[in-house]
Amino acid sequence: MTKTLLILNGPNLNLLGTREPDVYGHETLDDVQARCVALAADLGVSVDFRQSNHEGQLVDWVQQARGTADGIVINPAAYTHTSVAILDALTMFAGPVIEVHISNIHKRETFRHHSFVSGRADGVIAGCGTEGYLLAMRRLASLLGA
Ligand code: DQA
Repeated sequence: MTKTLLILNGPNLNLLGTREPDVYGHETLDDVQARCVALAADLGVSVDFRQSNHEGQLVDWVQQARGTADGIVINPAAYTHTSVAILDALTMFAGPVIEVHISNIHKRETFRHHSFVSGRADGVIAGCGTEGYLLAMRRLASLLGA
């Protein structure tokens, strides 16, 4: 059966392309989504690509994924560094989880060096630009035997 990958994006990623392009690049989130959808066709998986500025919305989507998705790619954005709620929701999800950061959070301010989500993630990709999403999808597809 076709595997479904849920790709979640946290706050301010809706402004990708105009937001600090020196850090995050010039691609918009729609561009990233289009690349993910194209790769999904190659990998033979389906993708459900979402963004929210709201922590509770992200928690709801992770909870719902228990019945609807086989694996999760998540860029929790600023909630990476603050959210026990997203960590707890991901902990209840049984499938593989890959955490993605466009920038290399370890090269940046100290407050970005700690990730709550990494305590649950099966893999972490940081500093590979938006290509990190594609790498994460490939890893999930391989973990899921898709
Ligand atoms: C980010 C890094 C976070 O520290 C930041 O708050 C973001 C984006 C990244 O993709 O590099 O919003 O997750």
